[in-house]
Amino acid sequence: MHFSSSICRRLLRTYHQPSLFPCVSLANRAHTAFSRHATQSVQPLSSKAVVAVLYQALEPPIVNGVRKPAKPGGYQDSGADIAYSLQKQAGIDVVTPIDSPDPADQSAWCFPDTEEGILSALSKGATHLWANTILFASHPLQVSQSVRKYQDQVNVIGQPPTLVEQFDDKNYVNSLLRTKGTFTMPRSWILNAHDKGWKAVLDSMSYPVVGKPIRGRGSHGVKKCDTKDELEKHVESLFSESPSIMVEEYLSGEESTVTVMPRSKEKNRYWSMPIVTRFNHVGGIAPYNGVVAVTANSRVVTKEEYAKDPNYDIVARECEAVAEELRPTAPIRIDVRRFKNDASSKFALFDINMKPNMTGPGRPGRDDQASLTLLAAAGLGWDYPRLLSEMLKSSSSLRVLRHRKPENK
Ligand SMILES: Nc1ncnc2c1ncn2[C@@H]1O[C@H](COP(=O)(O)OP(=O)(O)O)[C@@H](O)[C@H]1O
Ligand SMILES: [Mg+2]
Repeated sequence: MHFSSSICRRLLRTYHQPSLFPCVSLANRAHTAFSRHATQSVQPLSSKAVVAVLYQALEPPIVNGVRKPAKPGGYQDSGADIAYSLQKQAGIDVVTPIDSPDPADQSAWCFPDTEEGILSALSKGATHLWANTILFASHPLQVSQSVRKYQDQVNVIGQPPTLVEQFDDKNYVNSLLRTKGTFTMPRSWILNAHDKGWKAVLDSMSYPVVGKPIRGRGSHGVKKCDTKDELEKHVESLFSESPSIMVEEYLSGEESTVTVMPRSKEKNRYWSMPIVTRFNHVGGIAPYNGVVAVTANSRVVTKEEYAKDPNYDIVARECEAVAEELRPTAPIRIDVRRFKNDASSKFALFDINMKPNMTGPGRPGRDDQASLTLLAAAGLGWDYPRLLSEMLKSSSSLRVLRHRKPENK
């Protein structure tokens, strides 16, 4: 029995007592308001999906002077988890770079996201490319003429590359949402190393604040600073990696995370999964899941907790509204935190993740590798294979992804 199944059983007892999937009906009730954009082309799953998982072999480019650091290993760990789990499912085939890969060897399950790697996966018969990588506007999935030939025959589990490039920029996406005037967000400042006036800006801030990279990952470079001196030192260290960085008001209350699922043939609207709450912060910051397993510092919000506090529902609706704005084609995960350490305090949205971590159990030694999205899925009674098959169902054709124009351009 998978670890995820035992989580499911436990969570079904707590979060979902009255019926098997009450969360779905709860979500259904409140989510009907968000059913515009009903015309997005969503491809039906063909009779037998043949999936190839891509990992990050390409370093993301510098965009607006800032590079998102590549993940060591290029997400091959989660890629191998996904491929391993999918190939066990009826009705799904998985193609891999070598025949009969060893479940313990993460490097044997996924294709590099280079043009050559993608074409190799397609030549092996892939009907679905699982883009478990960071996409960008000049990525081969977007620009390769050889890959283009397949755009009507192949589906992609992932976001449009142009969208990721724009929205992986925390400043860009948060500013876009701020202009709408309907989202709850923390105060924020952008500091540029070449603008010598940046030190004076620190005087105008109320402390504590958080200093962080604009294109971040895994809490790298994110620090709570209690004084101006502390912030100044931190900003200088961030400038050694990137010429512009961001500072935010420190949200001191409960941290949660909300996964919003994309539209699918069956459910033609964005909908949030059960909320996952996070604890055991280190220095006021949630540690990277590669350092502390999320099962040690995160759990789904119980049905009782959710019913008692309207702020959970408010933030879930806001997160769905974010998806309505950004129109992702795969799950997004939004990190939120209450302004104050007080149950009546509202949640503010601070990190929109275009590629939530998708690790999961199955391969040897991976039993505690649930991701935050899998914890949320378990709140619905879904195990890892179910989460992956639902994502597969919501895939879009490569043509749809490639034809997505960047926002405001
Ligand atoms: N404005 C903020 N207020 C309070 N905590 C924050 C704030 N911004 C980030 N954090 C903390 O730092 C962690 C990582 O920051 P985040 O912006 O999510 O970047 P990453 O891209 O590295 O996930 C968050 O999970 C949270 O614990
Ligand atoms: Mg985050």
